[in-house]
Amino acid sequence: MANRARFVLDVLAAMVAEAGGDRVGIKISPEMNFNDIVDAHPQETYAYLVEQLRGLDLAYLHVALFGAKTDYHALLRPLFNGAYLMGSGLDQKSAETALADGRADATVFGGAFLANPDLPERFRQGAPLNIPDKNTFYSPGAQGYTDYPFLNGTGAA
Ligand SMILES: Cc1cc2nc3c(=O)[nH]c(=O)nc-3n(C[C@H](O)[C@H](O)[C@H](O)COP(=O)(O)O)c2cc1C
Repeated sequence: MANRARFVLDVLAAMVAEAGGDRVGIKISPEMNFNDIVDAHPQETYAYLVEQLRGLDLAYLHVALFGAKTDYHALLRPLFNGAYLMGSGLDQKSAETALADGRADATVFGGAFLANPDLPERFRQGAPLNIPDKNTFYSPGAQGYTDYPFLNGTGAA
C-alpha cells in the first residue's frame, strides 16, 4: 500500500516544499477506469492515501466520482483535515444540497463551467445553461473553449 501511494506523496511533498501547502491541492477519482486503470482494493488504497495527506496541510482535496458504487465522500471526508471539495456530475441543486448537508466544503464544476463563463451568475439568476459540446473537448483552438456566450449574448472577452 505504501509503495502504491509513494509516487503521489513524494510529488506532493516536493510541491509543498516549494510552494507551501496552502497553494497545493489534489484531485482523486477513485475507481475511474479510464485507460484501463484497475485497483483491486480501491477503498483501502484511497483511504490510505488520504490519511497520508494529513501532514501536508494541503489547500484542498477534490474527490470526483465517475460511476463508483462506493460512497467515497462518506469514506474519505472524515479522513482529511482540510477543505473537502466534491465534484463530478453535480448540478446547482445537488451541489447546494451537498453544501447544506455538510458533505463538502465546496463543490466543483467542470463541463458546466467550460460552457458557461458566467456560471455563478447563471446559478444566482436561475438562468438556463449552455450545454457543453463534447465534440470540441480536447480539440485545438478557441472553438469550444472561449466562445460560449455569456447571458447578455456576448462572446468571451
Ligand atoms: C474537457 C474536459 C477535460 C477534462 N480533463 C480531465 C483530465 O485530464 N483529468 C482529470 O482528472 N479530469 C479531467 N476533467 C474532469 C474535471 O477535472 C472535473 O473533475 C469534472 O469536469 C467535474 O465534473 P463535471 O464536469 O460533471 O462538473 C475534464 C473535464 C472536461 C470538461
